[in-house]
Amino acid sequence: MTLTITPLTPHTGVEVTDLDFTQPIDRENCALLRRAFAAHHVLVMRDQHFTPDQFKAAAQLFGEIQPHDKKERHVPGHPGVDYVSNDQIENGRRIIPGETFHTDHSNHPCPPKATMLFAVELPSSGGDTQYVNMHDAYDDLPDKTKRRIEGLKAVHVYQSKYSPRPLGQITEESRRKLPDPGIHPLVRTHPENGRKALFLNPVRMESIIGMEDREALALIEALMRHATQKKYEYRHKWRDGDWVLWDNRSVMHQANPDYDMSERRYLYRLMLKGETPA
Ligand code: SIN
Repeated sequence: MTLTITPLTPHTGVEVTDLDFTQPIDRENCALLRRAFAAHHVLVMRDQHFTPDQFKAAAQLFGEIQPHDKKERHVPGHPGVDYVSNDQIENGRRIIPGETFHTDHSNHPCPPKATMLFAVELPSSGGDTQYVNMHDAYDDLPDKTKRRIEGLKAVHVYQSKYSPRPLGQITEESRRKLPDPGIHPLVRTHPENGRKALFLNPVRMESIIGMEDREALALIEALMRHATQKKYEYRHKWRDGDWVLWDNRSVMHQANPDYDMSERRYLYRLMLKGETPA
């Protein structure tokens, strides 16, 4: 059976139906999924029933797993499967992973090309994930801004001193294994769809090479304001059993902390290895 692909917005996100992800996927459907991923950046499948191992096997259809920097935060009994949840409180403050717009693990010289989540437990309302299309955001920039940012490179560290939020504690062992900072262009070209995209992450961007910090921060803020406009957004409203895969080279994302924190939000999470942004 050939799977069906239905757009969720004109620019970002498709829903995939008529596919049982726990069964082997034939070559034709694999190719369709990969093409949809490159063209639409966010793939959604409803009503899945993954065990942690099945979730991992589904991830591996799209590439090789990129381990999380926080080695200690994995599904109990499954060191190869990470999770996000709202249960972490540090110094009286709740840590919501992914709470502001970002792209994942950009502190790596080769940041992950993709990330996926599977909804295991959700609050009764809220907790949506927002995605913004960084290709369209780049395309719409005035030519003058395009010329200004072409060739600029930013230093991405584990947590920028200018980060809008704390990333939470990391064990000494995990910290020792962190990579050297990533030095990435502000504009990258997607290796599969050939489109340019803004590549921004205020959580990790510590500086722009050759620029005073004040000027760099003002530029990043202006680009972020532009890129996070509603017209670039696909907002995913989670349902139990949802599986969502997104392309970190094409979208930024953020998790919404707008729900009752006495309710648990718990999703399996994995990332896939990427290439040097160019
Ligand atoms: C993340 O930033 O990877 C998590 C997003 C979410 O929990 O919605």
